Amino acid sequence: MAAILKRADSNMPALAQQGKLIFDQTPKYAPKYTGNQLSCNDCHLQSGTASLAAPMVDLAGLFPMFNKRAGHVISLQNRIQECFTRSEAGRASARG
Ligand code: HEC
Repeated sequence: MAAILKRADSNMPALAQQGKLIFDQTPKYAPKYTGNQLSCNDCHLQSGTASLAAPMVDLAGLFPMFNKRAGHVISLQNRIQECFTRSEAGRASARG
């Protein structure tokens, strides 16, 4: 248990940091998946923390959720892929 926690602790900051770079500067850090010059941060303001700008805060607990466009329940991973394909005019990564 302690070993797992230690590993998670040492990995999380780097992963979180990488995620923030991709979120804030998507065309630069995820060029394979973007078809325009928009970053997630351009719509989901302040790295997805601004209220009333489709914030990312606490989303994990809301999914899976019914998606009107899809006509069925989708996962958070599916929803992220949807913003990559629709908002970023790019393509979905295998893991969202
Ligand atoms: C062109 C603007 C735009 C860009 C760029 C964009 N999104 Fe979105 N995103 C939206 C809109 C609009 C919604 C729907 C908000 C709502 O339902 O209230 C949304 C919804 C979402 C949701 C679901 C939020 C919820 O409350 O259900 C996620 C997750 C998401 N986007 C992730 C991303 C990620 C990750 C990126 C970058 C790869 C991104 N978005 C880029 C506009 C954008």
